[in-house]
Amino acid sequence: MVVVAGALYDRGRLLAARRSAPVELAGRWELPGGKLEPGEGPEETLVRELREELGVEVEPGERIPGEWPLKPGYVLRVWTARLLSGEPRPLEDHDELRWLARHELDSVDWLDQDRPAVAEAALRLPVA
Ligand code: CDP
Repeated sequence: MVVVAGALYDRGRLLAARRSAPVELAGRWELPGGKLEPGEGPEETLVRELREELGVEVEPGERIPGEWPLKPGYVLRVWTARLLSGEPRPLEDHDELRWLARHELDSVDWLDQDRPAVAEAALRLPVA
């Protein structure tokens, strides 16, 4: 099973989302996303999940190379994305959102599995 997450950029910053559930992940920060559903392409998953979870419209960009194991049977893949419209709000799964500039990326406690993707995403942060 593939979980697709988004490195969402806006004005030179990256969006970090704090999970509110399940308990073992609550309080940790992640790149928002969710599971690929049957018949979906990963970019479609990304657009759907960020619409559901954050209430925004995004344009997927490139895939960040690599794949990171989650619980058994699940892997995380990450795409960059650009904010097209809306201001992200924590509608589902999250209780706080923060836009982080490059120098602020270490200020939140990222989920272990997201860290390599965040490091790669930082290298791709567009200049504001
Ligand atoms: O929304 P949906 O139920 O499709 O997926 P989710 O619950 O947001 O994510 C599925 C699994 O992937 C959970 O176990 C998350 O903790 C994990 N995940 C992750 O480790 N890192 C991310 N950036 C996104 C999800």
